[in-house]
Amino acid sequence: MDWGLKNRLSKIIQPDTGRAVMLAFDHGYFLGPTHRLEEPEKTITPLIPYADTIMLTRGVLRTSVDPNADTNVVLRVSGGTSIVGPHLENEGITTSFEEALRLNVAGVGISVFIGSEHERQTLLNLSELVNQGERYGMPVLGITAVGKELEKRDARYLSLCCRICAELGTHIVKTYYCDEFEKVTSSCPVPIVIAGGPKLETEMDVFNMTHSAIQQGAIGVDMGRNIWQNDNPVAVIRAIRAIVHENESAEQAFKLFEAVKNGEV
Ligand code: 5RP
Repeated sequence: MDWGLKNRLSKIIQPDTGRAVMLAFDHGYFLGPTHRLEEPEKTITPLIPYADTIMLTRGVLRTSVDPNADTNVVLRVSGGTSIVGPHLENEGITTSFEEALRLNVAGVGISVFIGSEHERQTLLNLSELVNQGERYGMPVLGITAVGKELEKRDARYLSLCCRICAELGTHIVKTYYCDEFEKVTSSCPVPIVIAGGPKLETEMDVFNMTHSAIQQGAIGVDMGRNIWQNDNPVAVIRAIRAIVHENESAEQAFKLFEAVKNGEV
């Protein structure tokens, strides 16, 4: 791996822990003004200090993130479809490498829709990004999207998706947590981070999922709604950081969550 690629990767996966806390708020690229992300700058600014990287589109980066902010960016570069259109999975590459370099990002992210009518196109899009990523020293995050079919999130399907992303050369894979998650991580030769998915009922559900994912081989999270749709988002992200980077249990994370929420720390 070339120096530039290694250096960028070290901004995403922290060299001291080998883990990653990524804050995802790219949802608007197909969902529009998602609940609690109607005004991205207001929602996200307080959370930035607690994320190793932020994951978003170039539009929200330019309009809603201070260029002086001490953060690293993973840029969403796929899209072209919406939740109300006929084929959510019919994505293309939306943002050039020149633009990613101009924006000084640490990595680029793209969804693949395996098993869909547009599987081949999205996998070739990923492959094209990897070709360019190797040329310019830019890590590529492959995202195993399921679109509206949330029930697809089982170990058999996600193992298939993660392994295909790795075989095509992606440097990190983002997928969903599922039962028997160890099967997914053990058969994927590149690091895996988990998305949070739709908002869970309780904070303990989020902390238990994060802790189990780490125990079963994930290197971190690339999480959105379960952080910024919570009434106490800073408390949630700080608790998640403690699980990911300090190996804290879900119970310890909950105590930290309560302490931050109550202004004690
Ligand atoms: C959308 C994405 C999101 O970034 C991803 O799903 C993470 O967010 P959440 O934790 O809200 O699921 O890739 O396609």
